[in-house]
Amino acid sequence: MHISQEQAIMFQGGRVIDPYCDRDEVADVIVVDGTIAAKAPANIKIINATGWIIAPGFLDMHVHLREPGQTDKETIETGSQAAAAGGFTAVACMPNTQPCMDTPDVITQVIVQGRAANHCAVYPIAAITENRAGRVLVDFRALKDAGAVAFSDDGVGVEDDSVMRAAFERARQVGAPLIQHCEYKKMSDGGIMHLGKVSQQLGFPGLDPRSEEAMIERDIDLCRQIGSHYHVAHISTAKAVELVRKAKAEGLPVTAEVCTHHLILTDEACKSASPNTKMHPPLRPKADVAACREGLLDGTIDCVVTDHAPHTEKEKGVGFPKAPPGIVGLETAISLAARAMIDTGLADWKKVVRWFTTAPNEILGTVDRGIEVGKTANLTMIDPQATWKVDKHTFLSKGRNTPFDGWDLVGKPVGTLRGVQLTLSLTRQGNHNKTVTR
Ligand code: DOR
Ligand code: ZN
Repeated sequence: MHISQEQAIMFQGGRVIDPYCDRDEVADVIVVDGTIAAKAPANIKIINATGWIIAPGFLDMHVHLREPGQTDKETIETGSQAAAAGGFTAVACMPNTQPCMDTPDVITQVIVQGRAANHCAVYPIAAITENRAGRVLVDFRALKDAGAVAFSDDGVGVEDDSVMRAAFERARQVGAPLIQHCEYKKMSDGGIMHLGKVSQQLGFPGLDPRSEEAMIERDIDLCRQIGSHYHVAHISTAKAVELVRKAKAEGLPVTAEVCTHHLILTDEACKSASPNTKMHPPLRPKADVAACREGLLDGTIDCVVTDHAPHTEKEKGVGFPKAPPGIVGLETAISLAARAMIDTGLADWKKVVRWFTTAPNEILGTVDRGIEVGKTANLTMIDPQATWKVDKHTFLSKGRNTPFDGWDLVGKPVGTLRGVQLTLSLTRQGNHNKTVTR
């Protein structure tokens, strides 16, 4: 990865896709002193962007950066560097750190470290309950004032009805989304993969999909009563998608995200018994994958995320049943989204760009920045025709826990620009030794 400070730079001849102003055309993008400009000054650095997509900076609104506390898995430095390499100019990070992100001090620490790393914007998501234990609500106001963009106990769901009801009320008062990890442990406990034909064949204890769906049902009901923004984290079943579809049709302030892996892999992948096919929620059967794709296409699901969840090789190396759930995703996300939604003929790059830009930024109320003259540059560059092989050893993340190692993918992020900071992941030569038509 190459990082440089550029005072004046022009991306020449790229396809500018900007969902903020419904723009899709071949054009030059000029950036002077970190701001989008109309005219190129003398001595401008020119980058040949022919064949590239130039889009507003991508945001992954669901990642685990593990800091503070679990720096053997990841740090804010390595995680945000991985994000930039994966084409993201911003990430929102989950609070299941040690200590948990449930106090203003920890939120401030994450913001300060994110700025110091300076690879991408780092937006902290605060816990809903103290230590994510599901009992005592955090101080919503203080955490929001400290810079939390949303609230979530991700990793676990908030099970207690009265606690969740109170959380809705507090979230409404401060005007922040509640992001729910939808899982009733009492229904899923002991399960290590999706409960179904494959879990039975493997003899693995199954995790009942109703544990996800029942919590969404309860929460939509609370949302209807209290009327505060509710966001479903990593939606994964057909019924869950249908619940959100109905809630939206009713006009409720409900949004949802889907992980790249839930758009591509089915529970059949668990037959490998690789711990890198274990995550929460688990991989689901084909019909659920199809429903998630359909939900994205019809707008039921708003955006795509990674749930980037790095674990050490040692932690993952204990076999499927005992391994911690989660896989890394930042450095494969854009290519996998293209594989699931473009290579299949379901969608085009315009839609993919929207799922990673306007959609998550609207949900979190974070920077709203299209490619317009006078605005600070915040760009993601993609070579949609580059072919490449995933090699986990080249990841900038500390995590190597991916089920996609060795996969041949088409479409690759080539860089990001934030203000004057240009990060280029690949040289053009490297990009273009093989091309396919898309
Ligand atoms: O697979 C997962 N890993 N799901 C979660 O909800 C938590 C995450 C983690 O933190 O490792
Ligand atoms: Zn997560």
